[in-house]
Amino acid sequence: MKKNVSLTRYLVEQQRDDGLIPGQLRLLLEVVARACKRISQSVNKGAIGDVLGTAGSENVQGEVQKKLDIIANEVLIEANEWGGHLAAMASEEMEGIYLVPNRYPHGEYLLMFDPLDGSSNIDVNVSIGTIFSVLKKPDGHPGVTEQDFMQPGSQQVAAGYCIYGPQTTLVLTVGAGVAMFTLDREQGSFVLVQENVRIPEDTKEFAINMSNMRHWDAPVKRYVDECLAGVEGPRGKDFNMRWIASMVADVHRIMTRGGIFMYPWDKREPHKPGKLRLMYEANPMAWLVEQAGGAATNGKQRILDLQPTQLHERVSVILGSKNEVEKVTRYHSEA
Ligand code: AHG
Ligand code: MN
Ligand code: MN
Repeated sequence: MKKNVSLTRYLVEQQRDDGLIPGQLRLLLEVVARACKRISQSVNKGAIGDVLGTAGSENVQGEVQKKLDIIANEVLIEANEWGGHLAAMASEEMEGIYLVPNRYPHGEYLLMFDPLDGSSNIDVNVSIGTIFSVLKKPDGHPGVTEQDFMQPGSQQVAAGYCIYGPQTTLVLTVGAGVAMFTLDREQGSFVLVQENVRIPEDTKEFAINMSNMRHWDAPVKRYVDECLAGVEGPRGKDFNMRWIASMVADVHRIMTRGGIFMYPWDKREPHKPGKLRLMYEANPMAWLVEQAGGAATNGKQRILDLQPTQLHERVSVILGSKNEVEKVTRYHSEA
């Protein structure tokens, strides 16, 4: 791997040499990265920047908004609305879609984001992140509607996340593998640290919120029981468990050393298909994971094949090391 390659250079080369990304998409990704840099600054300041704690409001999903949920949402909108690369945005923190104001030029891309993932970890100084997904607006009609966003994840043209942890690292795919860039604060730029990220097909590490065990469905219970049985059980090996409660951080660990992440449907709120959101969390992460050689399903179907029906749609998520995800998915079909 070449040394000291900035995100800018990487994207220019992807555009020039491989024809993988059009100029407007390159601009979009640069702008998203710049916004993440600003969010990272706020996250780093913490109490000094008066960014901790709740904002005293709720989002459309009835979740209490943290100050940083709102700050990150505003940073992403302000950074992206004027550049001419976007038609509209949608966010976990906004009820409807956000149209690019008429005073700015309009582009052909649709940007979706979870501005701040892992909100419960903000105040306790544990890794959090931003997740984003990019679609192209379907041709054939002027203007943008919510319906234009209702495309399966397989239609994404770019997806990524930025983790704000001990390092701030941007992880990106435009459909030709996954690359990681760490923020060099002295240079002020993201620098390529890994290309062709690969998730091992097998693992001995699983991530699930065990406190929900009594609410799970039989196939998930079967899988976790077998992991817990360890070397004496049917798997014949001991498993380790992690649960950070920031999807970004749990997925980043899987990107780095493998593992399986599950936030399945459970009986607490049976009418909801899951907790995580299809458009801002599951789709971008599923594509990244697949691009790194892993798999992602809702227990029955590939996440990227699901046809969304609403912006804030929720979904059951099982993703990570391929053989493990296939095993859990098979347990669902056998049940
Ligand atoms: P968000 O902060 O964007 O609402 O997302 C939190 C999500 C996800 O990051 C994490 O995996 C999960 O919620 C944790 O949920 P539990 O607190 O139920 O474990
Ligand atoms: Mn989230
Ligand atoms: Mn969020």
